[in-house]
Amino acid sequence: MEHTRWYKDMVFYQIWPRSFYDGDGDGMGDLWGVYEKLDYLKALGVDGIWFSPLYPSPGADCGYDISDYMDIAPEYGGMEAFQKVLRGAHDRGMKVIMDLVVNHTSDEHPWFQKSRRREEPYTDYYIWRPGKKNGKLPNNWDSCFEGKAWQYDEVRGEYYMHIFAVKQPDLNMDNPLVREEVKKILRFWLELGVDGFREDVITYISKKEGLPNDYLMPANKGILYYNHGPHIHEYLTEFYRDVLADFDCMTLAEAPLVSPKKALSYIAEPDGEMDMMIQFQSMCADCLFTDYIHMPFSLRKLKRAWSSWQKKLDGKAWNMLYLENHDHPRIISRYGSERFRVESGKMLAAAYLFQKGTPFVYQGQEIGMTNWRPQSPDMYEDVQTRWQYEHTALHLSEGKRLRRMWLASRDSARTPVQWTAGENAGFTTGKPWFYVNQNYREVNVEAEEKDPDSLLNFYKKAIALRKSLEVVRGGSYREYHALSSRRYTYSRTLGKEKLLVLCSFADEPIPLRIPGGFDLSKAELVLRNYSQLQEKTMRPYETRVYYWGSGV
Ligand code: NOJ
Repeated sequence: MEHTRWYKDMVFYQIWPRSFYDGDGDGMGDLWGVYEKLDYLKALGVDGIWFSPLYPSPGADCGYDISDYMDIAPEYGGMEAFQKVLRGAHDRGMKVIMDLVVNHTSDEHPWFQKSRRREEPYTDYYIWRPGKKNGKLPNNWDSCFEGKAWQYDEVRGEYYMHIFAVKQPDLNMDNPLVREEVKKILRFWLELGVDGFREDVITYISKKEGLPNDYLMPANKGILYYNHGPHIHEYLTEFYRDVLADFDCMTLAEAPLVSPKKALSYIAEPDGEMDMMIQFQSMCADCLFTDYIHMPFSLRKLKRAWSSWQKKLDGKAWNMLYLENHDHPRIISRYGSERFRVESGKMLAAAYLFQKGTPFVYQGQEIGMTNWRPQSPDMYEDVQTRWQYEHTALHLSEGKRLRRMWLASRDSARTPVQWTAGENAGFTTGKPWFYVNQNYREVNVEAEEKDPDSLLNFYKKAIALRKSLEVVRGGSYREYHALSSRRYTYSRTLGKEKLLVLCSFADEPIPLRIPGGFDLSKAELVLRNYSQLQEKTMRPYETRVYYWGSGV
């Protein structure tokens, strides 16, 4: 079937279901709640939804530990609610993509239960190894969440590999039967009508033969041997050839540690195995490799990442653009400023929404939700955060360790969406499953809908503008003032149409600088975040978008 690449004209919204909206009053977000908010998403200008996992799961990693791939968890409303949301989305012209998590399953998945008992054909569904002599682990690889990557299983009498939590055993993708299972899952959801997949750590699914010890990496040992492993392209091509090619669908690969050059080996058009990539380079402007190793924010690092993806994919592949998701703290608290919450939220929106690619907005980003800061470590839910708190930086005082979590924890962005200034931020009529960020009285959808200058209304305007201008979809990208550590300036050009985006990342006024060749007297100022402009100065976190052409 023809692959029409419909996603290129769209803006997506990510729903992390537990915290989006509770429709049945049990305290947990669900699909009934999503159904009620479809018109809200439509009004925002959203054309597609990415659902973080909705499948039955014990919840060891908030749904990324799946125990049944062909069903929807009862707490989210089961299949009935899902079908209703799918129809409701399609009726409104919105696409729906699911999260496909097949690097690992839950240890409560029946496949794992049978595999540990060596029941055929499941014996080799996972990566099992005997220990080495003297009780040593099969190799020295680290897991990303909980210590080493191996767990001894009493039932089987062997170790199994878990690159993530202990309760997330890695599947053995080298086993053709496992690949058949993946294809069944893909086909099942596509036949049900979903429009594609975001594929969780998909570049991890092929491990280097022999699982050698890693003597190169100081931490995250093993990643060089399981990321972009030896058979990765073969397996992804197989999934494409045997299933995805039959549908006009979209696939989005989550890919830690990937450069644009490497990305092209997966997503170059027209024959790429996948369509877009979630890259991490633009998520590392205030940290080293992961949010946990915090560094001062560097705009130059951010710009280098953005511009290199813009330039190196241009004409060859399509970018996925994002500022937030469920794995990173909130962007205003990271790259913007909580003091200038609204201004910096708007500036950040303009900084990424006019780049070339398909933008994704994470729930709550559009109203400027900021990091949650619990007073006690026990309040954290996330498996990775808990492990880091308990096992790292033990030399620091409790207060310092907690502050480190405020900056790094995934829970910083997992609190319920703030819908109103009422009880529980209007998220639920029951007892919320998780804490609500206490700024909900000021930061909430209801208040922002009423305020024409709110961040929410800015997002609506920016998204509508992006869709109305051909230059945003197809224009070439150029960056200016690349060495500046306070301003991000870029243009988009398509024939006579031009767009110039000015962004100040400074918390004080800076001189306005217009690159040569742009005559502002002939331009239309199509978007801005301050109503009063100064002739020669940009105010803190100011953004302006100028347009030349006839498209407005
Ligand atoms: C990436 C997902 O985005 C994250 O939330 C999850 O914990 C890991 N993969 C493991 O599935």
